[in-house]
Amino acid sequence: MNIADLQQPKEGDARMNIADLQQQAEEMVEWLAVYGADPEGGVTRLLYTSSWIEAQQAMDRKMRAMGLDTYYDDAGNLFGRLASEDPEAGTILTGSHVDTVKCGGKYDGAFGIIAGVLALRYLKETYGPPKRNIEVVSLCEEEGSRFPLTFWGSTNITGTAPADHIAQIQDSEGIPFVEAMNKAGFGLGHYRSPLRKDILSFIELHIEQGAILEREQTTIGIVEQIVGQKRLTIECSGEANHAGTTPMGWRKDALRGASQMIVAIMEAADRRGAPLVATVGKIEVEPNVSNVIPDKAAFTLDIRHPQGDVLDAFCEEAVAICFAAAQDRGLQVKVNQHLDVRPVGMDASLLRSIETICQAQGLPYRLMPSGAGHDAQIMAAHYPTSLIFVPSHRGISHNPAEYTSKEDLAAGVQVLIRLLYELGYEKETIS
Ligand code: HGY
Ligand code: MN
Ligand code: MN
Repeated sequence: MNIADLQQPKEGDARMNIADLQQQAEEMVEWLAVYGADPEGGVTRLLYTSSWIEAQQAMDRKMRAMGLDTYYDDAGNLFGRLASEDPEAGTILTGSHVDTVKCGGKYDGAFGIIAGVLALRYLKETYGPPKRNIEVVSLCEEEGSRFPLTFWGSTNITGTAPADHIAQIQDSEGIPFVEAMNKAGFGLGHYRSPLRKDILSFIELHIEQGAILEREQTTIGIVEQIVGQKRLTIECSGEANHAGTTPMGWRKDALRGASQMIVAIMEAADRRGAPLVATVGKIEVEPNVSNVIPDKAAFTLDIRHPQGDVLDAFCEEAVAICFAAAQDRGLQVKVNQHLDVRPVGMDASLLRSIETICQAQGLPYRLMPSGAGHDAQIMAAHYPTSLIFVPSHRGISHNPAEYTSKEDLAAGVQVLIRLLYELGYEKETIS
């Protein structure tokens, strides 16, 4: 079956068959994964690091080789553009994030960019210039893996970036955010302002990062809503002392206090029950040597729920647990919240269009929520937005074992091609 058969084929349709698309999608995933390949396994491509710079530069070359105009904005977002001939036209934007978690998978974020590049090339070769500009963006950062900051790419585009926050943050090696950004060539006014007023809609194609689609043998997930998410750092301060000569009752043990907080928060999450999730993913201890009672223990807390009020209530409960445990252990405690994104619904009209496309293409699909955060949730507050999933094998993600079959990759690209065709070439108005 040719993709062109899926669009009302017309004269001059370039014939690209599904097998080619599968192979190209799989090859591009492997190609991009080289940039940031981690000797410990998987991919580590952190914002403004050398592997991130090399990946953006390689993607820039690839976009241009595949027939797109390219440009950066001053945050480091990279765009591939298929321009309309109408100078007044708005822009349909697709894409995802190029950064990864540490030792992450090859598909998280990367696939959304790769799918966009493949889709724009096909549309350009098959239909020529669109009525409305269509762009694919390689968003500079979404994960929050290097700095205590997330969605840096999409919040710059929407004008909601925490400009004051970045002046205070640094990575775990003490490198200030602004220094890293400037060293990578961004934040210096050398590129266009990231703020965009011309975006008509945003479409993100992403791996599910869960096991529902595979378990249900369904190819496409159409996201209805993305959960709300809060991220905090809790810093406990006690008193370093000798492990051998300090009686247990005399200690101000920061790590013991943090441990007490973590266990109590997890028990509270268990009591609250699904769909609430709470995760402590990172803990740093000082001085971190075996015979000294720790005087510092800082841990991260990631809380998610589809209802904003429940998310807020649980966060308050967790913070209260921290202050009570600190008092109990004679510690100081500081709580910094650096992310608070609200639950958000995806655009109903785009959702219906995607359903119709899946039906026309004979692709098994289902509507579903997203437990993972995505740039789509930032964009959705500003433009009609949709998020489309393809299956993750065994639901594994943020792990070198992350995998999606080439058949499922190509199915996602097919849906994206058709949706971008409708938005960029056909429909006069968006939703
Ligand atoms: O953490 C998340 O949900 C996303 O993968 N950044
Ligand atoms: Mn991720
Ligand atoms: Mn992602």
